[in-house]
Amino acid sequence: MRFGSINAMPVAPEMFEKEHLNSIDFSRVRSEMSGNERAFVNGLIRYHRPVNILEIGVSSGGGTVNLLNAISDIPASRLISVDRFTNYYKDANVLNGSDVDIYADRLPLDRWKLVLNKDVCDVLPGLEMRFDFVVLDTTHRIPGEILAFLTVLPYLNDGAIVVMHDYSLSYKTEDAIAPRLLFATLVGEKRVPQNVAEGRYNNIAAVQIGPDTRKHIANVFQALALPWSRVFTPGAEDLAQIRALLSKHYDGEKMAYVDEAINRYSLRLTLDQFAKNIVFYGAGKNMRGVLHFLTHYQIPFDYPIWDIDADNINDINGHKVTKPDFESRVHQSAAIITIDDRVESEAVAARLVELGFTVLTGKGRFIEFFHRQFFEWLPIGDVIWN
Ligand SMILES: C[S@@+](CC[C@H](N)C(=O)[O-])C[C@H]1O[C@@H](n2cnc3c(N)ncnc32)[C@H](O)[C@@H]1O
Repeated sequence: MRFGSINAMPVAPEMFEKEHLNSIDFSRVRSEMSGNERAFVNGLIRYHRPVNILEIGVSSGGGTVNLLNAISDIPASRLISVDRFTNYYKDANVLNGSDVDIYADRLPLDRWKLVLNKDVCDVLPGLEMRFDFVVLDTTHRIPGEILAFLTVLPYLNDGAIVVMHDYSLSYKTEDAIAPRLLFATLVGEKRVPQNVAEGRYNNIAAVQIGPDTRKHIANVFQALALPWSRVFTPGAEDLAQIRALLSKHYDGEKMAYVDEAINRYSLRLTLDQFAKNIVFYGAGKNMRGVLHFLTHYQIPFDYPIWDIDADNINDINGHKVTKPDFESRVHQSAAIITIDDRVESEAVAARLVELGFTVLTGKGRFIEFFHRQFFEWLPIGDVIWN
């Protein structure tokens, strides 16, 4: 590895040893990068000669072909490619990474490891490797590349180069902001291609990791506070493991950002799951606790609150309270019972079950409903029912 600054590189990365890149005909593989973007990656690798390379987001393998070709005559270099999914997202009959087969005769397959169907957090600890070069190209939505980067950072050498693809995709797809947000919040030497064709915009960028990157990494944790996409995320099932690995490497202050973000996301998923079909039953102390909790995590609340005494109560924390209206919601609703009195709560629950509601009663069930099913470690319990 040549650890010099990426900005000390005497030519634009995309111009460096381009002839090496041109030995592959990329029209034969399904590459999702433009020729100039592939040249940028090729040039950075050919110049800096990283030893351990990590690719996160493989797709059919066009980018992998480029990376393997770039190290084909650098015997010390090896590549680990990780994709969270097994199959190519554009064609379920194609395996991720399978385009590498097209050039199997000339790529260094003995120095390549492909891991499918796993999040990178499940892969890194077992590898016992530190990386000099990373290509991040996953969901492009928050938290996508941001969480992947934070997961990988403890496994990077100082001087490592991290390339982010699709960093301008938000020009076309509004919520695809994760790579640019990561680039903006990272501290380090930065480089983008110099030679972008007229009328095109640059869509790839590189950051070099140094002591200042780690010193100011809280900026990147801050970025996790922005709303997470509902569409593409690492997936709720991965978040517990990602969090567990992060907590081994980052202090409590940084983990607080992670927990807050995961918390908000999990609550939103749960509320989404029931969409408009939740009713809250009981407008007393417990309901106040629920509203306090949801407000704390900035979760919008516009669900019916029922109380037998609605005429006297009228509203709670600014939310309207109405009399129960079982008929309007029967057989399609979940009811969260927030009645303070246990005996009364059980009686109402029995009645609602009879009517076909999915019923959740009491603090324990509420916590279970809202988060325990996803994330046991979260300190939510303390703010409920106060
Ligand atoms: C834009 S494509 C990658 C394109 C590829 N780098 C290339 O140059 O051809 C995004 C890939 O990221 C994968 N992906 C999505 N979420 C991921 C995650 N959390 N970790 C790793 N890969 C992920 C998808 O399965 C998909 O294959």
